[in-house]
Amino acid sequence: MVNRSVLTISNPTVNSNPTGDSWETPGEKSENLTAVKPLKIGPLEIDPPILQAPMAGFTNFAYRQVVREFGGVGLQATEMVNARGFVWLDEHEAEHPDRLWGVRDEDRPLAVQIWDNDPETMAKVGRRLVEEYQVSVVDINFGCPVKQVTQRAHSGSYLLKEPERMHAIIKGLVAACSPTPVTAKIRLGCTRKNANACEIAHVVEDAGAAALTVHGRTAEDYFKGNADWDKIAEIKHHLNNIPLIGNGDLDSAAKVVHAFANYGVDGVMIARAALGRPWLFAQAAAAIRGLPVPPEPTLAEQKTCMLRHYDLVVERFGVQKGTQLMRKFACCYAQGRPGARMFRTKVAKVESPQEFYDVVEETFPKDDPE
Ligand SMILES: Cc1cc2nc3c(=O)[nH]c(=O)nc-3n(C[C@H](O)[C@H](O)[C@H](O)COP(=O)(O)O)c2cc1C
Repeated sequence: MVNRSVLTISNPTVNSNPTGDSWETPGEKSENLTAVKPLKIGPLEIDPPILQAPMAGFTNFAYRQVVREFGGVGLQATEMVNARGFVWLDEHEAEHPDRLWGVRDEDRPLAVQIWDNDPETMAKVGRRLVEEYQVSVVDINFGCPVKQVTQRAHSGSYLLKEPERMHAIIKGLVAACSPTPVTAKIRLGCTRKNANACEIAHVVEDAGAAALTVHGRTAEDYFKGNADWDKIAEIKHHLNNIPLIGNGDLDSAAKVVHAFANYGVDGVMIARAALGRPWLFAQAAAAIRGLPVPPEPTLAEQKTCMLRHYDLVVERFGVQKGTQLMRKFACCYAQGRPGARMFRTKVAKVESPQEFYDVVEETFPKDDPE
């Protein structure tokens, strides 16, 4: 464990915590935290150094916009985009996938994540994203454990077994995207027995990537067990000049403070916990700055946030598809709140805006009456 001490931040607390999570930092009452510096990704300065993770099927423009409106996020990312699919659509003059919804026009900085195993295809798509879409960062997915990506396409975390190919992909992409930075997102390895992230860190840096993000599980772990932050911390010693971004199980402002204070990371990335709590970034940003942590919004405010999310989804996908898509987002907002199960059961069947609003009115978790 790396311990840095300059500024002491007491354990951030919030007024209410309907998720029931503990806001206590594991094992400690206060954290010794060096003033957290902005994160440098090539020429970009990411401040606060708190990143929103890419999540397929979830981190589309609507979600990113809701997060952006709460603030506290330094860099946002799209869902992963398949490079081969992108090229195919180009060749067939077809419209680009929904996964690039919003990318052209929304606020920067913004990272687009791509995946494939062919260096030339990746470089071609990277160049397009930089020239045509003017993205701030091109991120490469070397962490996806899903069979469709690993076994069928020999991509994502499968490539952790092929460091030379990873090197070629990164090097080609860096040359194609320059001066726009290219970053890599990995897991600790394919299996616990072959957790080769330290070796991979050298490959990633040597090939010219501008940052490395590590999810502290192996592909074999999938989402089981806890992310291993001691292993993430070890990787820091294998990087010379590029920053390390730690990812895994950060679900409170206190855990973000704990990660910065104890594991030597230059940035952190949050995924699942912020799906139903897009304000988590603002809470974490306040905590690392030593400011009071904003309280959880009331359940009424959370409902308003969810309805804003719904409007954005419907604007893009139309009423029918938008309503169907919103079912899963709505479940995220209700997760961990009282009555979530009933809400989930009912919202899973909604087909129209009226049905959606009725279910929300009837069963979305409510604040306790005063
Ligand atoms: C539904 C879902 C979709 C995901 N999609 C992606 C993806 O497209 N690209 C990626 O690099 N990681 C993806 N991940 C992994 C997350 O980015 C993150 O590494 C992981 O969830 C651990 O972080 P957390 O504990 O904060 O959730 C996905 C995770 C989930 C739950």
